[in-house]
Order: sequence, then structure tokens, then C-alpha cells
Amino acid sequence: MTESQTTSCERLHSGSTEFETVVFERRSVRGYTKQPVPRDVLEEIIRIAQRAPSSMNTQPWHFHVLTGEPLERVRQGNTEKMLAGSSVDREIPLNHGYEGVHRDRQVEIAVQLFEAMGIAREDKARRQDWVMRGFRQFDAPVSVVITVDKELANDTIAHFDCGAATYGLVLAAWSKGLGTVINGQGIMQSTVVREHANIPADQVIRTCVAMGYPDGEFIANHVQSRRAVTEAVASFVGFG
Ligand SMILES: Cc1cc2nc3c(=O)[nH]c(=O)nc-3n(C[C@H](O)[C@H](O)[C@H](O)COP(=O)(O)O)c2cc1C
Repeated sequence: MTESQTTSCERLHSGSTEFETVVFERRSVRGYTKQPVPRDVLEEIIRIAQRAPSSMNTQPWHFHVLTGEPLERVRQGNTEKMLAGSSVDREIPLNHGYEGVHRDRQVEIAVQLFEAMGIAREDKARRQDWVMRGFRQFDAPVSVVITVDKELANDTIAHFDCGAATYGLVLAAWSKGLGTVINGQGIMQSTVVREHANIPADQVIRTCVAMGYPDGEFIANHVQSRRAVTEAVASFVGFG
């Protein structure tokens, strides 16, 4: 290893503590202040997310950043369609419902959130209100719609690449004092999103990320989701 390589490696490793702080403190944020997010901050966050690895460095992702009037139109269109009972209209293949341990985890986070918000199981009105907030992207001042190049839309590796970039995006946002929630509900009516976000015909919508400054008073923002113990998800071979 040359001297310059050594220096470069040391520099690469020096930030690990800050990285862990961002990873362990980040949580999904579902309540935002109205404070606008400056465009230059958003550009920097996307620049960081773009450092995600991708298969063969294909970088199949695109980020469409919405705020103001266009985002209000998306919220309104989503709300109208969901209240009208329109069927789900997504461009990402539909998940047909979780079972077993996955379902247990889904229920666990829902219980944590509803308990924090004081929403009782039988309180249908408040539960419905919570769901509708999701379709409004939790009234965040910014929504980032993530798309993939259409020619790679059925390529599962491109889904993987988009996931990596999306995680980079939410971590970068957190490191700059912003909260996010990756929000499948926000693209449940993708025709609405496509229209108001001006998504080009050669791209396919994968997800959206609600983003803004977290409202510290919003109690659900303090919920920390749980994770399986590492022994349950990792196996080590050849360590003796
Ligand atoms: C692909 C994807 C879609 C998601 N969609 C929603 C959503 O529609 N509504 C929501 O409240 N949270 C949504 N989430 C956030 C998850 O519920 C959250 O990441 C998970 O419960 C773990 O919590 P944490 O992010 O606070 O660690 C989504 C997350 C991912 C990765």
C-alpha cells in the first residue's frame, strides 16, 4: 500500500462513529414543521444518495423533488382517489400481504405507532385519519419521487439499486437535520403522482420519500422500531 493509499483508508475510516450515530438515531418521521427545505440542501442530499453502489454502476435511479403547489395537487389527487375507493394504481409490482414473522413485525410497528399516538384499536375514525395522513405524505413540505429507467423496470437488480439509493437519501437527510419516511402510500395512486410530478414516459415510479424538518412535539416521531437480534439474521462460517 502506498502512502497516499494509507492516508485515504484512514480518512475513510475516521467517520465511523458519526455514521453509527446517524444510523441508530434515524427513524421514520411522520410529523413535520411547515419550514421549507432549501433547494441547495436537497441537492446536496441527492448528491450523497447518488454515491450508492449499483449493479455495474448503472445508476438506474432518478429523483423528482416536489414542494409547494405541485405537491399539494398530488396530496389532493391521492386523497380524492382513496376516498372514492379507487383501486390501487401502482407501477411497482403489488405486494400481496405479509404472513408469519413478517406480518408480526408489521403489526408490531403499527401497535407501537398507535399506542404512541393514543389511537385505540376500536377508534375507526382516528385510524382512518392516520391512514389518510399517509396518503397525504404526512403533510411533509417535500416529497422525493424515486423512479427507475423503464428499460430496467423488470430487472430485480434495479430494485436493489433503488433501495440502496433510497437508504442513502434518508440517511443523508437525517445527517442534515431533516426527517423522512419512505412512503409506499404516497405512490398508491401513481397516475396522480406521474401527472403532477411530470414523470417522463421512459421512467417508472418505484416509491416516494416524504421529507422535512421533524416536529419534535409529534409523539410518533419518537417511536423507535425494533429489529431482530443479529444472531437471528446472521450466520458466520469458518470463524472457529
Ligand atoms: C418500501 C417502504 C415503504 C414504506 N411505506 C410506508 C408507508 O406507506 N407508510 C408509513 O407510515 N411508513 C412506510 N414505511 C416506513 C416503514 O414503516 C419503516 O421504515 C419501518 O417501520 C421501520 O421503522 P424506522 O424507519 O423508523 O426504522 C415504508 C418503508 C419502506 C422501506
